[in-house]
Amino acid sequence: MNDDSGLPEDSDQVPSSQTSSSGTDPDSLDQQPTVTDQTGANQSSHVIQDLATIPQRAVARPEEANTILISTSTPIVDVRNLAKTYIIGRTRIRALQDISLKVYQGEFVAVMGPSGSGKSTFMNLVGCLDRPTQGEYWLAGKLVSSLSNDELADIRNRQIGFVFQGFHLLSRSSALGNVLLPMVYAGVSREERERRGRGVLRLVGLGDRMDHKPSELSGGQQQRVAIARALVNGPALLLADEPTGNLDSRTSLEIMAVLQALNEQGLTILMVTHEPDIARFARRQVAFRDGLIVRDEPVLTPGSAKEEWTKLLKKAAAEHKVQVTEER
Ligand SMILES: Nc1ncnc2c1ncn2[C@@H]1O[C@H](COP(=O)(O)OP(=O)(O)O)[C@@H](O)[C@H]1O
Ligand SMILES: [Mg+2]
Repeated sequence: MNDDSGLPEDSDQVPSSQTSSSGTDPDSLDQQPTVTDQTGANQSSHVIQDLATIPQRAVARPEEANTILISTSTPIVDVRNLAKTYIIGRTRIRALQDISLKVYQGEFVAVMGPSGSGKSTFMNLVGCLDRPTQGEYWLAGKLVSSLSNDELADIRNRQIGFVFQGFHLLSRSSALGNVLLPMVYAGVSREERERRGRGVLRLVGLGDRMDHKPSELSGGQQQRVAIARALVNGPALLLADEPTGNLDSRTSLEIMAVLQALNEQGLTILMVTHEPDIARFARRQVAFRDGLIVRDEPVLTPGSAKEEWTKLLKKAAAEHKVQVTEER
């Protein structure tokens, strides 16, 4: 029995007896137009609605001071001749040599390349965690490469959501507790925090798992919590560094399905992966080598992670390989 007691006004749409079995029940998937199957057959329709309840990127908050106005012609990410050199003792490591790239609203970009090619360095710069040695970085029309640390931290908190390979969840906090935290730092009122927190958890299909601790969730569910946490301040950009790196192939499909669904709703995503099998779900691939971009091309027919995930589940169920039991 799940603890649905905390569900808000629309709890009638989520049967309190709903178990996680729907997440591995391919029949229930048939009825569901979204990827958020894990919360039960009746939830998918309002999961879509819930997207409207969370802040829709930075654009949607005109009440805020310093609101960054985004027009469709302004790239979310615009880096110009970016270089990053690390100096260790007398050694200079040119992690990024000369990177120019524009990413527009609604894009889903896979950043690829071998180990050491500069992917994480690039993501750290784009995520305002670090500053370039040379070059300019314009985030949603604002020059951020020369901001102070405090200003960078503020931009980071409001504009960028991060998802990591290792989830990075607080183990003692519930799913909801983890998702609420970034809003505490952002100074969001308590009521609004609850509303948004529950909204994003439902959005990623965890409406019936809000009170579970990370240890009580599967790897895929934990990564969903991390995605919800990344979305809760309404970022302009979601950055994911190897988000499926710790997950088996079926769970990787599950997470890619969530990311694809969010992207289809307009979320701009930049994802590092060294796996072509994951990068084929993006709409564009940018390959790094030795700190340079060596390939940048659209994915003409991106795979549908949801379709493939559903197929796998059906196949496994048909072969009785999936135990349809409630996860704890
Ligand atoms: N903090 C750092 N200090 C010194 N060198 C670094 C640091 N971070 C990365 N590097 C070096 O920069 C290069 C690019 O690293 P990285 O961006 O982590 O590549 P990738 O993520 O593609 O594996 C590598 O040679 C790496 O050793
Ligand atoms: Mg890396």
